[in-house]
This record gives sequence, structure tokens and C-alpha cells, in this order.
Amino acid sequence: MKIVEKITAMQQRVHRARQSGQRIGFVPTMGYLHAGHMSLVAQARRRVGDNGLVVVSIYVNPTQFAPTEDLAKYPRNLERDRRLCRAAGVDVIFLPSDSDMYPGRAVGQYSTYVVEECLSQGMEGASRTTHFRGVATVVAKLFNCVLPDVAVFGAKDWQQAAVVRRMVADLNFPIELVVAPTLREADGLAMSSRNAYLSTAERSQATVLWRGLVEARALVRARPKGVPAGSLKKILAKRVAAEPDARLDYIECFDTSTLVPVGRVRPGSHLALAVYIGKTRLIDNAVL
Ligand code: PAF
Repeated sequence: MKIVEKITAMQQRVHRARQSGQRIGFVPTMGYLHAGHMSLVAQARRRVGDNGLVVVSIYVNPTQFAPTEDLAKYPRNLERDRRLCRAAGVDVIFLPSDSDMYPGRAVGQYSTYVVEECLSQGMEGASRTTHFRGVATVVAKLFNCVLPDVAVFGAKDWQQAAVVRRMVADLNFPIELVVAPTLREADGLAMSSRNAYLSTAERSQATVLWRGLVEARALVRARPKGVPAGSLKKILAKRVAAEPDARLDYIECFDTSTLVPVGRVRPGSHLALAVYIGKTRLIDNAVL
């Protein structure tokens, strides 16, 4: 396994691989890797085959964090990430620096961003207004660095995957996008690097996201004609309010591919929610 830090070196590595007939699979991450990331790596390997080149990027992208968010304290553990990647059969870790990714940004001389104007507006985009501009920009840049045939994203960030899919289509990136299922802890909590912030008491309250999704699914499946979105949101908001350290940011019921909110929630509708557990903001979603 190689660690590549420079963008030009990354591009050269990929050009050589492609010349020798390899396909490139890519998993973009912000590090602090866990089993969920490793399942994305397994998907990438499956798509490009044993002979393919699997690249994982580790880059905590500053432009997707608002000044009030957790950029500085975002968890990092490069040694462990390296071990996990090696064990998972990753070929290359791409580890770019801020000055390579955003040259001149510190002195106001970086000025090109990618903005998706439709799917990025609600939910995460409403709560974190500059988030998807940062995500779309860094993912476009990472695609230009790694030049993958296949890129794998996690379903936990459902809206992110939808925004990236739209960007890939709109900007003609010749990349196949794969969205891999969310991996969960035994009690249903979606795996996330941010779970590391939770205290023991918060960790048990954090299952309220998954409990809410399971309850919503049962309610909706019992009424195939649908449940008014407002009623469902009220029930779930109560469940969240019952946890002493939980605070609801949003719940949304929407069409799974267009992300357009629905008035009646039916089997097959999608539900997403964001909840603060103490200071940690967690998200989850599921098809009902
Ligand atoms: O999902 C993430 O970890 C990040 O948003 C991504 C896609 C690596 C971009 O920084």
C-alpha cells in the first residue's frame, strides 16, 4: 500500500495504472475510519476486481465546515487508518494537504467552487448553508485528482450521495457512482466517525435516531394508504424530546430519488433526521 500526498503524483499513479489496464475504484473519506468505510472499500474492490486499483482519500475538507462547526476537533488517527486500509487491501491512500487542495485560500486567493442548486437546498443544506458547496467542490477536485472509474459513497449521507450523483451527471464526470448501505452497530446506531464524541450516557440516547426510523417504518407499513407527514414528524419529535440530551434539528419525509418532501408518507417514502445528542450532531435515514 502506498501513501500519496501530492496531487500530481496521484494523477501520475492513476495514469500508469490505467495504461496497464487497471480500473480505478475510489472511496473519499475524512479519515477516522471504521467498519462502515471498510464496507465501501469492499464495494470498490468488488467493482474494479482483484487487478483494479483501490484508492481511499483521507482529507478533512475545511470548506464543508461552517466556522461554528467541529473542523479543528474532527477526530483524526492516521496510524489506525493506515492499518485498517492495509488490512482491507487498499492500494493507495491519497492524503492531500490544504495548501495543495486549496492553494491561496488562506490569503483569499482561492475562488472557484461547485454549487448544486436543487437537491442541496433542504435538510442538511438548510441547517448547514455552505456545507454542500464545500462537499461538491472537494468531491469534484478529488475526482480530478484520482480520476476514478467507480466512486463509492455511503447511504448514511443520503442527500450528499444525491447531490454528488447530480453533479456527476450535470458536469459529465465519466464516473460510475455506487451508494453502499449504512453499516450499523448492534443496537442500530449508524456507524459514524462522530460517534467517537459521545459520552456513555449520550451513546445510549443516540439510538433514538434508529429507534425513530424503525417506529416510523412500522407505522407506515401498517397503513399502506399512507400517514400524514406532519403526524409522523410529531411522533418522532416526541421520541427525541424524551431523551434528556437530545435536540431535534430536522425530520423530513421525501421522495427517495428527487428528495422532494411528501405530504403523505407511504411504504417506499424516505425519512431522514438530524439530532444533536449533547454537542454531537448525528444524522440517519431509511426507506420506510
Ligand atoms: O462523507 C464524507 O466523509 C465527506 O463529506 C466527503 C465525501 C469525503 C467529502 O469531504
